[in-house]
Amino acid sequence: MKNFDVVVWGASGFTGRLVAQYLAETYGIDGELRWAVAGRSESKLQDVAASCGFGGVAILIADSHDEAAIRRIAEQTTVICSTVGPYALYGSPLVKICSELGVHYCDLTGEVQWMRDMIETYHATAEASGAKIVHTCGFDSVPSDLGVHFLQKAFQSEYECFADTVHYRMMRASGGASGGTIASMLNMLAEADKNPSLVDLLADDYSLNPPNSQRGPDMPGDDVFFFDETLRRWVSPFVMAAINTRVVRRSHALLGNPYGAIFRYQEGTDCGPGFKGYARGLAASLLGKFGMGLLGLRWARRMITPLLPKPGEGPDEKARNAGFFEVQLHGRRAADPSQRLTVQVTGDRDPGYGSTAKMIAEAAVCLAKDPLPEGGGILTPSVSLGDAYVDRLTQKAGLTFTVLG
Ligand SMILES: NC(=O)c1ccc[n+]([C@@H]2O[C@H](COP(=O)([O-])OP(=O)(O)OC[C@H]3O[C@@H](n4cnc5c(N)ncnc54)[C@H](OP(=O)(O)O)[C@@H]3O)[C@@H](O)[C@H]2O)c1
Repeated sequence: MKNFDVVVWGASGFTGRLVAQYLAETYGIDGELRWAVAGRSESKLQDVAASCGFGGVAILIADSHDEAAIRRIAEQTTVICSTVGPYALYGSPLVKICSELGVHYCDLTGEVQWMRDMIETYHATAEASGAKIVHTCGFDSVPSDLGVHFLQKAFQSEYECFADTVHYRMMRASGGASGGTIASMLNMLAEADKNPSLVDLLADDYSLNPPNSQRGPDMPGDDVFFFDETLRRWVSPFVMAAINTRVVRRSHALLGNPYGAIFRYQEGTDCGPGFKGYARGLAASLLGKFGMGLLGLRWARRMITPLLPKPGEGPDEKARNAGFFEVQLHGRRAADPSQRLTVQVTGDRDPGYGSTAKMIAEAAVCLAKDPLPEGGGILTPSVSLGDAYVDRLTQKAGLTFTVLG
């Protein structure tokens, strides 16, 4: 038997310590869940553990580039839960080792180019070993991917078929960004500077799909401001759409395209109806375009970076506790407009950290403890964890999944 069910890798970082705190509060230190924390600095981990309420937990040490040391950690556990990012800089050796050893793995990456690389390099290895490698177990992309999973189950039970069109709308949220998230985004932009073909990859709606899998027709894109004729509301681009939509499409492909050849998935931010909705949406989309345009310029990034949160920093406890999110997913069938259903997904903390820490922690416990669908590979949250994960998120992690009708 392995020494641990779960190892939290990166527990000295901003998000990693929230994950460890959550595990300590929810499962105790020496309780039903056998868990440990890991990172590169023993003294830092000891300090963080003592001050954040998980003192006494086992501590394992490795640098993310030291394959032998990572292997020794991976051999001791059923699951590694990684919050060490930017993942493109620090994550590949761990995915390699987990894939080879058949150790389950979950993380918080939103770095599409790195996920593509992991799929191409390690999917077959993980499939053979049975390791479930699950990226995007945070705000991107759990509400999207599990939201579609939940919606389609409800749709199936209501209409005995699946929705062929699903629109995700970010309704309301309050939260902030950490230094680690900003570092990951800046690293992605720096990689795109060096390798212009990444721009095409990032723009590809199906960038995470298996080779030769079904494509299109998807519309409208993720970067447009438009009036949704069906819902009669204005919609502006949603900042996470370029990650979430790829994950949902990968899930669909891995499941064998059960929602049909014309399945369409789109994400946007709900701006409301009428002139007020138009003005709000226009302002948000112009601001977003301006911000992304600025970040695309190397000199502007150099000027802005010192003003942004540094690695290890992020929204304080008050902001996390006051935070929340609410998204809605609208499903329908093109052939019969009367067949439609809306579900809502909410979280009781800020999306990026308070709720995300609980989401990834429960993904790790789910991988360690729950009976799950067979099979390894580079999977998605819904394909690898499915209903057991929805249950955990609602029973333990403060998320709700509700059919609104
Ligand atoms: N998808 C989502 O919803 C979501 C939400 C939150 C975070 N994230 C992602 O999660 C990642 C972490 O974010 P964060 O804000 O928690 O970052 P952070 O505070 O900078 O923490 C990074 C962690 O990585 C560790 N680390 C760095 N280099 C290492 C190395 N060579 N070997 C071993 N450990 C190393 C750091 O250890 P030290 O303490 O020793 O420096 C620290 O524990 C980012 O990629 C971010 O984008 C995603």
